[in-house]
Amino acid sequence: MINLNEQRFVPKWEHNRKDRLELESKFSNYTGNLDIVEFHIPYTRYEFVSKMLNEASSKQGKKILVSGGDSVNFDVFSFFWKTSHDPSCAMAELEKLINVLRECERVYDQIVFISTNHERRLYKVLEKAIAGKDQVEAIKPFIKTFNDFFKESKLKKVVFADSNFIQLGDSIISHMENNSAISGSTRRWLIQYFAPRVYTPFNVIYGLHTHCQGQDTIERVKVIETGCIAETMDYWRSGKMNGRGKMSSIGYASGYMKNGLSDLNRCNPVFCGWEGYI
Ligand SMILES: [Fe+2]
Repeated sequence: MINLNEQRFVPKWEHNRKDRLELESKFSNYTGNLDIVEFHIPYTRYEFVSKMLNEASSKQGKKILVSGGDSVNFDVFSFFWKTSHDPSCAMAELEKLINVLRECERVYDQIVFISTNHERRLYKVLEKAIAGKDQVEAIKPFIKTFNDFFKESKLKKVVFADSNFIQLGDSIISHMENNSAISGSTRRWLIQYFAPRVYTPFNVIYGLHTHCQGQDTIERVKVIETGCIAETMDYWRSGKMNGRGKMSSIGYASGYMKNGLSDLNRCNPVFCGWEGYI
């Protein structure tokens, strides 16, 4: 007899599906608070991180923080380095990240760390410099990962997810990049993307990467753009080098769920400020 599950075509988006599902299963009935943040070290507005930590510590119940990607900028590994304002080197950014996560560990019960485009910039450099993806996959085991650095730094509450999205209870936290250049258009795209792909019902999507904030309810799903908690750079305003396009807002998102079900009235973007002049 053919096992259809085994025969099932595994498309590219399901990269690390097994690890992701295993991690998600630990949170499927989660009750408590949820904060979602995009740090962008070294451009982080730390006064707003303090505000987030203060607000979280004043809340009752369990608390999870999701670092939803772009935790560090790693501009030195990027084409954008030419126009970057980044004064730091990659290792300094990583050290700052570990310090920030250490502060977060004082407030949150668990920190879920998603690895996305900025965290993978080193691999992209290697892909271009060497031969391609297969060679980089072969090299990866010889390179320290973020998770290795977290363990060395004795961060006890950080769990690492090598995935562009993760589902906690009925909430998807996503760092997809498609349709992110126009504010708001990514929300409908996220519904269309996840509806045929995620089997476990979901009621909320927290969308990162757009650096904008706002929310819509589309096809019975509340979609929240989280913003990012950093100063806005010229080159990322449109995701293009010409720096035109949308204005960003600075902030994060916050939610609450009971037995894995979100209280939709308590899931919102938390606005900290508009981008300044660039
Ligand atoms: Fe970002």
